[in-house]
Amino acid sequence: MGARDEQKQRTFANETKDGPKAPSLVCPSMRLRHHRILRALLLLAFALACVVFAGHVEPVLGDTGGVTSIFRPLSQPAQEIKETSLLVLAICGSIFAVVAGLLVYAIVRFRHRAGDELSEPPQVYGSNQIELAWTILPLLIVFVLILVTSRTIADIQNRKPPPTAVKATVIGHQWWWEIRYPELGIVTANELHVPASDGRGSRPTFLKLQSADVAHSFWVPQLAGKTDLIPNRENLMWIEPTQPGTYPGNCAEYCGTQHARMLIRVVVHPPDEFERWAREQQQSASVETNAPEGRKVFFANSCVNCHTIAGTSAQGKFGPDLTHLMSRQTLAAGAAPNTTNNLRLWVRDPQKIKVGCLMPNMQLTDNEVDQVVAYLQTLK
Ligand code: CUA
Repeated sequence: MGARDEQKQRTFANETKDGPKAPSLVCPSMRLRHHRILRALLLLAFALACVVFAGHVEPVLGDTGGVTSIFRPLSQPAQEIKETSLLVLAICGSIFAVVAGLLVYAIVRFRHRAGDELSEPPQVYGSNQIELAWTILPLLIVFVLILVTSRTIADIQNRKPPPTAVKATVIGHQWWWEIRYPELGIVTANELHVPASDGRGSRPTFLKLQSADVAHSFWVPQLAGKTDLIPNRENLMWIEPTQPGTYPGNCAEYCGTQHARMLIRVVVHPPDEFERWAREQQQSASVETNAPEGRKVFFANSCVNCHTIAGTSAQGKFGPDLTHLMSRQTLAAGAAPNTTNNLRLWVRDPQKIKVGCLMPNMQLTDNEVDQVVAYLQTLK
């Protein structure tokens, strides 16, 4: 017999054996219910506190960009999505206010009072008017919601790339982003550079999203909604930011140990600055280097099997392209700011910065680490 059954039987026994007890204001089952509600509320408060706290944790190695808000969109389609969400939120909020208001009113107005009869209240069945009202009204509301959302979805999905559009392919890896601009001949990582659409004309960026391993999701809250990157499939999305700046985003689909440190940043340039950036990225690394020892260490180790440095024999495709490593703001997909110290930490033992990442500790001596870092810092 379960503890609950036992308790039920005891309560039952109490009532029958000892006769009716003196009426108590709160019966045991009600107390139990209060207890449960209180526990649920506490849990909810705890969960909310966790969410708020998680949004404010500073990365240990330095700030690599804060959490951005979907309520401050600075691009299409994020702007359109926000407008639709606010409308939907307003409709649902009003329904909630009406229903909760009526509920609270009924609870307070018709609560149990001392001296009330304990008999069943009069039961009312059937009212065509009321039943028609609560069938048709929700139908109309749902219809409005469907129309509004499908119009937004169609607007976003049917956008055709204009001839001026920038085209890029974003490939999700555990745990970094490969970014290719096939038409510009640029390969980079973890930073998507795009032009701003300003008064001089519209210049959206159209993205093809692919995955090299598991499912990821591309999400830059101020620019657009989330779109998944799925193995063996190509998804499409576009963004059209209007204000230059750096927009942080995250991988939004759990993809393994370092999912949380798979950050993306979109750098929006004024149009002419974007052209300059593209010309710089198209350059190969110079053969001449002022860090020949580091270069020797890099090429003598298996670094070259995973990384590409354009213009050299390093043509590995497994890890990020390093040709213009120093042009990037962060290391390891936003795990740490790209500083000399962090670069040294990273080369010595990547697992210290990003546990589980696929770059191994190369067991270099301190001297070799310094030399490799000096070489990497020539890759501007
Ligand atoms: Cu990639 Cu989560």
